[in-house]
Amino acid sequence: MNKRISSHDRVIAQRQAEGWMFLTEAVRDLRTIGAIAPSGKALARALTEPVRAQAPHPLAVLEAGAGTGAVTRALIPQLSRSSRLDIVEANPRFADRLDKLVTAHPSLLGPAGRAAVHQSYAEEFDTPHLYDVIVSGLPLTNFAPEQVERIMSRYMELLHPGGTLTYFAYLGTRRARSLTASRAESRRHAAVDGVMAAFQRTYAVKRCTVWANLPPAHVWHLQRPLVTAAAPSAPCPEETRR
Ligand SMILES: C[S@@+](CC[C@H](N)C(=O)[O-])C[C@H]1O[C@@H](n2cnc3c(N)ncnc32)[C@H](O)[C@@H]1O
Repeated sequence: MNKRISSHDRVIAQRQAEGWMFLTEAVRDLRTIGAIAPSGKALARALTEPVRAQAPHPLAVLEAGAGTGAVTRALIPQLSRSSRLDIVEANPRFADRLDKLVTAHPSLLGPAGRAAVHQSYAEEFDTPHLYDVIVSGLPLTNFAPEQVERIMSRYMELLHPGGTLTYFAYLGTRRARSLTASRAESRRHAAVDGVMAAFQRTYAVKRCTVWANLPPAHVWHLQRPLVTAAAPSAPCPEETRR
């Protein structure tokens, strides 16, 4: 009983430490971190749905912008023993923490090299591998349109034909920015929305709304086309409401 309480306490303490670490890094560089707290469980679950849907098949999975590992922790238990996980994170302190997470995670014990953390920018990530699923946590609406174009193009290049990219966009950010930001900043945000809309028109197969997150977010699923047309996708099973 005491043992169960103390391991629960350890998890709570770990989450609090992660919350503080996330906030500290956000204060240091809010543009790159893009939020003041890690994603909640419902958002992590929605982002990892394509991995869950294909379990227990062996999959190659890439997570970009993993932060303190809120989505990584939802991802790892879904991976079969022959699956592979690469994590790309630009922030060196987050990358260090993620490295400890994957090294110690009991589900990843076994074949060496099943998971690796790369401290790199997603758009510069150089790898010979292609992926079945890419999960992106990058705050794309904070970036320049040219950078967003580079990141999205790199994601599509890194997917196997038929592979799926998931990413989230907080609801209402453009409107909030138009009320508070300069004209140049509003124009930049509108240009990023234009880049994203073009990718969505070409590749989107699904969009879900996760209300149980602060702030609520859309989760987009984009699919690199197969040679033949993709089958219509299933409705969102994980769509959550407050
Ligand atoms: C909004 S946080 C998301 C963290 C985590 N996925 C979550 O949902 O809690 C964005 C993360 O992306 C990382 N990041 C920002 N730009 C990046 C880039 N170009 N390449 C890789 N990581 C990047 C940041 O350091 C941060 O950890």
